[in-house]
Amino acid sequence: MSPTKPAVFVARRIFPDIVERLRAHADVDETDSDEPLPPEQLIRRLQGKTGVFATGTERIDAALLDACPDLRAVCLMTVGYNNVDLAACTARGVRVSNAPDVLTETTADFGFALMLAAARRISDAERYLREGRWQQWHVDLLVGADIHGRTLGILGMGRIGQAIARRGALGFGMRVIYHNRSRLAPALEQPLGARWVSKDELLREADHLVIVVPYSPEAHHLVDADALALMKPTATLTNIARGGIVDDAALAAALQAGRLAAAGLDVFEGEPEVHPDLLACRNVVLTPHIASASIPTRRAMCDLAVDNLIAALTGGAMKTPLN
Ligand code: DGY
Repeated sequence: MSPTKPAVFVARRIFPDIVERLRAHADVDETDSDEPLPPEQLIRRLQGKTGVFATGTERIDAALLDACPDLRAVCLMTVGYNNVDLAACTARGVRVSNAPDVLTETTADFGFALMLAAARRISDAERYLREGRWQQWHVDLLVGADIHGRTLGILGMGRIGQAIARRGALGFGMRVIYHNRSRLAPALEQPLGARWVSKDELLREADHLVIVVPYSPEAHHLVDADALALMKPTATLTNIARGGIVDDAALAAALQAGRLAAAGLDVFEGEPEVHPDLLACRNVVLTPHIASASIPTRRAMCDLAVDNLIAALTGGAMKTPLN
C-alpha cells in the first residue's frame, strides 16, 4: 500500500504540466478559476490541506489560518507578498515562500517599455491613428520627451530597481539616481554611476521616475499630491510595484492639470478597478498588472512555487523562504 500523499490546493489555474509535477508528491485539488476565490470558498477548499499554491491576490490572514488549522505551507508564485500576513503565518508555524529573482529581468523590461511608451506617447499615438485622425505629418505631431541622456529616478532599489538602472545607464546613457531605505554597496553603484538621493531630491530631479518599492502599510501613498507637486511638469512617472503606493486620484489630477507630462501604470489602487479619472487621461499608458507576463517567466514563477511547496511537503529547505 503506498503511503498517503499530503493534500494541497492550487488556488489558481496554472500550467497543467507543472500541476502534474506537483501530483508526484501531493494529492492535488486545483481550481480552474482565473480569479481569486472569495475568502469563504478558499477556506472551504483549504480544509484538510497541508499546503497551498497561491498568487499575490489570495488573502492569507489570521482568520483564514485559524479556519484552516492543517495548513503548513503557503507558496506564492509572485514576488510581492503583501496579501500574506507573514507574522500570523510565522506565529502558527506556517512556512511561506515567494518567487523572487525569476521575474526580475522580465519585469524590468516591461517597466522600461512602459516608461518609453509614456514618454514617447505610444498609446496616445496609436489611438490617434486608429481613430482616423492622422491627416498630415507635422512638426509637433505627438511630440514627447526624450529618454536617452535624461535623469532616471528609481524609487526602491531592489533587484528590479537595479535591473531597470542597468537598462537606463548602460543601454540609454541615462543618469541614475535612486532612493531606497539603504544605500547600495559602492561595487553596485559605481558601474551604473547610480547616486543615492533623498526622496524629495529624487522627485525634484528625475525626468523619468520609476516606482519599484514593495508595498507595505508605510509605503501607502508614498507618492501623494505633495510628492507629485515636487516633480517637474515635464517628468513622467511609471509604477510597476503595487497599487496604493501612488495616490491614483492625485496622480490623475496632476496629469490632467499638466503638472506632470505622462504616466505609465501597470498597477492600481483597488485593481482590477481603475480610477475613472485615470481612464479619462490621454497622457497615461495603462496595462493590467502584466509586468512579469512572459511565458518563460510565468512558467519559472510557477515552477519555483511548486519547488518550494514540494520542499515544504517533504521536509526539505524551500529555495526562497520568507520566514
Ligand atoms: C509579483 O510577482 O509580485 C507581480 O506583481 C505579480 O503579482
